Amino acid sequence: MAVTGKPFLDVLRGETRNPPPVWFMRQAGRYLPEYRELRTRASGFLDFCYTPDLTVEATLQPLRRFGFDAAILFSDILVIPDALGQAVDFREGEGPVLEPLRRNADLERLTPDRVRDHLAPVFETLRRLAGAIPTTTALIGFAGAPWTVATYMVEGRGGTDFSNVRSWFADDPKGFQGLIDILVEATADYLIAQVENGAEALQLFDTWAGILDEDGFERLVVEPTREILRRVWAVHPEIQVIGFPRGAGERYIGYVERTGICAVGIDTDVDPAWAVQALQSRCAVQGNLDPNLLISGGREMREAVRRILDELSGGPFIFNLGHGILPPTPIEHVSEVLAMVRGE
Ligand code: CP3
Repeated sequence: MAVTGKPFLDVLRGETRNPPPVWFMRQAGRYLPEYRELRTRASGFLDFCYTPDLTVEATLQPLRRFGFDAAILFSDILVIPDALGQAVDFREGEGPVLEPLRRNADLERLTPDRVRDHLAPVFETLRRLAGAIPTTTALIGFAGAPWTVATYMVEGRGGTDFSNVRSWFADDPKGFQGLIDILVEATADYLIAQVENGAEALQLFDTWAGILDEDGFERLVVEPTREILRRVWAVHPEIQVIGFPRGAGERYIGYVERTGICAVGIDTDVDPAWAVQALQSRCAVQGNLDPNLLISGGREMREAVRRILDELSGGPFIFNLGHGILPPTPIEHVSEVLAMVRGE
């Protein structure tokens, strides 16, 4: 039955595995004491992201502790704006801060030609990881999807009401499309290079897909994703890609149908029973334990894990969270969930 020797990749190809493969979004990070120690060895977060000795180690840390079925490249979605020449800074306690782009003329400041060279340390990280992870573990590369990356590029930070990016799209849709087109090209090239350097599957993070109306979702989430997939598959037709259009609600169905994606990550608002009928009949499903339950633990956490396993284990399924793991998460809760998923 095992096609690849890697359960995670088998599921992406449409097989059912019991127990299901498991990994967690943001599985490397501040909830781990060994990550907090490693993080002190670079001053800025982007410096950390461009130092392969550190990113390789950060990627491996959660594998050593928990034996996840997939390793995700340690990097960030905002390396693309940085590689495009936009000023990006991560400030302690504040998150990312970017020199915002607000109108079409600002796009002239971007330097798409530099992207591949600038991201060379990411490719080195992947090459080193490909030789360092266990043979049954899959290596996931990733990028932010154009819409989500554009929200940070235009707003200049997280935690806004998205008014700048919304009004640019409303007032000058053609001009805003210019930014999306730059991101489609840069992201597709970046993902192709990730595959060439050892990534065995890819995930596209569209964290802010859920704030768009139907027309916006179609033009800014579905179409750019479809175009990235077209470009990636023109070069690497075998590569499996997971989409994570967080907050898409019922639009998850159209997303799967119209992008042709291989798998979808479902967020915490998606009912697993709905996902079985609406999504798992079309593709592999990944998710969706609430990261807040992983913090609080106890019976509520165990019941949620049980329900997700009961609903989704009958088809191609990867156990994961519905969003990234949060820094206050107790390590024992992660171990407890993994034991349940593995039937131990
Ligand atoms: O999953 C992994 O373990 C791989 C690494 C990874 C990071 N960011 C590391 C990171 C991945 C896949 C991301 C994706 C990412 N980055 C997303 C999409 C997924 C999501 O969570 O919605 C987004 C929106 C970003 C942008 C970003 N990066 C923000 C808003 C922040 C600040 C918020 C925060 O958690 O501090 C970051 C910083 C960041 N990216 C950290 C890590 C481990 C924390 C910074 C640090 O350790 O100093």
